[in-house]
Amino acid sequence: MGVPFIDIKRFEDGFLQEFEAKVADLAKGARFIGGEEVSGLEKSLSEYNGVSHTVSCANGTDAIQLALRACGIGRGSKVLVPNSTFWATYEAIINVGADPYIVDTNLTDLQMDFGFFEKAVEEVRPDAAILVHLYGWGSANLSKFRDLCKSKNIPLIEDGAQCFGVEYRKEPIYKDALISTTSFYPAKVLGAAGDGGAVFTNDPDLADRVRKLANHGRTSHYNHGLVGWNSRLDTIQAAFLNLSLKFFPERLKSRRYWAGQYREKLGNLGINVIQPPNDFTENGYCNVNLFSVEERPSIEEKCKNAGIGFGIIYPGAMEDQEGAKPFTKSVFGEKNARDISKRVLSLPLFPYMTEEEFNEVLKVFQT
Ligand SMILES: Cc1ncc(COP(=O)(O)O)c(C=O)c1O
Repeated sequence: MGVPFIDIKRFEDGFLQEFEAKVADLAKGARFIGGEEVSGLEKSLSEYNGVSHTVSCANGTDAIQLALRACGIGRGSKVLVPNSTFWATYEAIINVGADPYIVDTNLTDLQMDFGFFEKAVEEVRPDAAILVHLYGWGSANLSKFRDLCKSKNIPLIEDGAQCFGVEYRKEPIYKDALISTTSFYPAKVLGAAGDGGAVFTNDPDLADRVRKLANHGRTSHYNHGLVGWNSRLDTIQAAFLNLSLKFFPERLKSRRYWAGQYREKLGNLGINVIQPPNDFTENGYCNVNLFSVEERPSIEEKCKNAGIGFGIIYPGAMEDQEGAKPFTKSVFGEKNARDISKRVLSLPLFPYMTEEEFNEVLKVFQT
């Protein structure tokens, strides 16, 4: 029968009808930019994530660029970035005019390695660093990254495009970040009906700068205190996200349920499942943005033959990307990102997948 890697069309009963009604109402009043849907969403996101300020924006890449710019990063600044991430993290540094220094990945938690990071901090003396929370959790050394950056006065930007709903030590992961970002790309754990993103912070000055930068540096309608750009989240996206937030706990529960099933059944079969570090597991199985196994060489072909969708989400290291060649200043590490990318494969996982689909995926490992 085949199973998709992800199916984002499994809306709850009544969801689409409610969304259509909202769109019709907004369209009737030509309310397309800003307004209560956007301000309401920002308020709800702040509450959900335990942060004082949320600024919505056009997408997750802009969110990183806004955070970098708000932290004073620009031409000639030095920024540390992980070797394992989605390309947008790297791109954001170049787009604000800064220079990227790559830090390799830890072989245990598959996040940026703290030892290599410390070395890079010593040698590069960076103006900022970006930490990315991958797979649906974060680094086992998250508090050490935060403490080190704080003690050295290095703004740490946390790219949380993949970690909406993740809890670290029983608190939302974004809560204690200096500044963090997310993406509402439709396939994300909390996805919009198009592109969207947000920046979270507890610092009112950073929030104020992000808000201005995302709206042409405006201080009033025709006064521009900063050079920014247009990165507003539009009202229809906000309406879709407000509605999705209502169902988010249910969706997360379903993801976690199937992740638990995978963990149990694949564990029994001796499959090497990628596990989150302890600080992330107390309240369920993180946000299960991905459910990944280190068995790519043995199962990739079998998945293809059986029509089982899969993701190779981090197919290579940043340092190996053609587009990185003219820009990367140096790489700290031992090519771990490259090794890991060859071993990892992510299995189908999405809210409301069925028992039948789940069993179909399992069969790949039983033959
Ligand atoms: C880690 C990471 N950073 C940044 C982004 C960029 O987000 P967007 O596609 O919304 O620009 C993504 C999205 O795929 C991501 O996974």
